[in-house]
Formats: sequence, C-alpha cells, structure tokens
Amino acid sequence: MNNEEDKEEIHTETVVEVMENGPLLVFGTLHITNSDGTKEVKNKTTAFCRCGASANKPYCDGAHRKIEFKG
Ligand code: FES
Repeated sequence: MNNEEDKEEIHTETVVEVMENGPLLVFGTLHITNSDGTKEVKNKTTAFCRCGASANKPYCDGAHRKIEFKG
C-alpha cells in the first residue's frame, strides 16, 4: 500500500468527432498498428478517412472534398 506505483492512477480520455462529409477526428495519443504491421504513435489530433478515397489510408488526405463525400 505504500508503493508509489499503487498511488499513481492514469486517467486517459479519448475524444472522437465525426466531421460532416469528412474524416473521423480522434484527439489524444494513439498507438496505431497499420495493416502491414508497422506501428506509429500519433499525438494531438488524427484524422481517419471515412470516404475511402484517401491515398494515405487510414488517414484523411483531403480527397473527400474532391469526390464530394456525403456522410
Ligand atoms: S475522409 Fe478525407 S480523404 Fe477520406
């Protein structure tokens, strides 16, 4: 009970926002494993593609505007 590690509580909160006709925004630190197994850490705000047109999946590259994505 006197162990310092026991006293430390980590509170993390992830906020997700769906942009109208655009990407999914995730706020916070993310540990991402890509489909090829590579790993990345993203901080602050990460935009994930919802439209399927991004050339940089899983991230949004703005292509949703070109295809006039609705959703
Ligand atoms: S949501 Fe932006 S490129 Fe797909």
